[in-house]
Amino acid sequence: MSPGDLLQVLQQLPSYDDPNVVLGLNPADDAAVYRLDENTYIVQTVDFFTPIVDDPYDFGKIAAANALSDIYAMGGKPIFALNIVAFPARESLDILAKILKGGADKAREAGIVIAGGHTIDDPEPKYGLCVTGLIKSELIFTKKGAKPGDLLILTKPLGIGIITTAIKGEAASSDIIKEAVSIMEKLNKDASEAMIKAGASACTDITGFGFIGHLHEMIASGNIGAEIDFSKLPFIEGALKLAEEGLIPGGAYKNRKFYAPYVEWEKNINETEQLMLYDPQTSGGLLISINEERKDLLISHLRNNRVDTINVVGRIVESESEKIKIWR
Ligand code: CO
Ligand code: CO
Ligand code: CO
Repeated sequence: MSPGDLLQVLQQLPSYDDPNVVLGLNPADDAAVYRLDENTYIVQTVDFFTPIVDDPYDFGKIAAANALSDIYAMGGKPIFALNIVAFPARESLDILAKILKGGADKAREAGIVIAGGHTIDDPEPKYGLCVTGLIKSELIFTKKGAKPGDLLILTKPLGIGIITTAIKGEAASSDIIKEAVSIMEKLNKDASEAMIKAGASACTDITGFGFIGHLHEMIASGNIGAEIDFSKLPFIEGALKLAEEGLIPGGAYKNRKFYAPYVEWEKNINETEQLMLYDPQTSGGLLISINEERKDLLISHLRNNRVDTINVVGRIVESESEKIKIWR
């Protein structure tokens, strides 16, 4: 769903009135936070989607890593999950078993179990998780804590939506598929633990609204803006070439339509390159905003945790217009 459409629907919902909902839809963050008592806060999220790769086991792993990501983006610790499954009755059960095995193995890697779930008959398979976690009230990393002067660090390369579009069009090489799968199935757990230890100011994960959309959520209504150095952004090798061949998902255009008014581009960044930053990501990396003085500490924690993409891509600046300036 495009960001504009989603907003339109959410605006029609009745407002809720529960003082224990610490974070819900207003303002929306990566996951909901609910206070059980003074010391116990739970963080919960749900995510599922249709297969984006051909291998069912890989799809299961990716869907689980993606669903867990919003818990990590908030600074939470997942404790258990439930499966959400849609699967065609006529299809081989062996395929379904492989999808669920992928999810279970990824959950085990995250240190949690999948304690149940629900399956429906559906011609279009879908899989994901509802994940419950615990979070310390003083360590809730919302999207909104970013401060002028903060540096922005991204922990996975971009280009996933372009590559999954190429997979659908049978235009992706086996090498690039392998690379994309390994990036998508990587948990944001290690990056999240490093960001908590280093004391980040804000964090979100890069998913369906693309790099620009999620960065915009970080600066929206905060009297801040962002400056991004295009040359510092990490891209999966080969993604730009596929984009130049026209393998750009519809979601990138939808994101551009909604977010373009907030972006100023330096002239030397061409249209394809611009679309790469609107490209919807699946199980993308964390975008961490951190005080400049703590940047080296964060980088060393990320390195110790073997996070292999650690790119300082720009900074938060004072601005009344919530603008993202992208230069090179
Ligand atoms: Co998120
Ligand atoms: Co999500
Ligand atoms: Co967050």
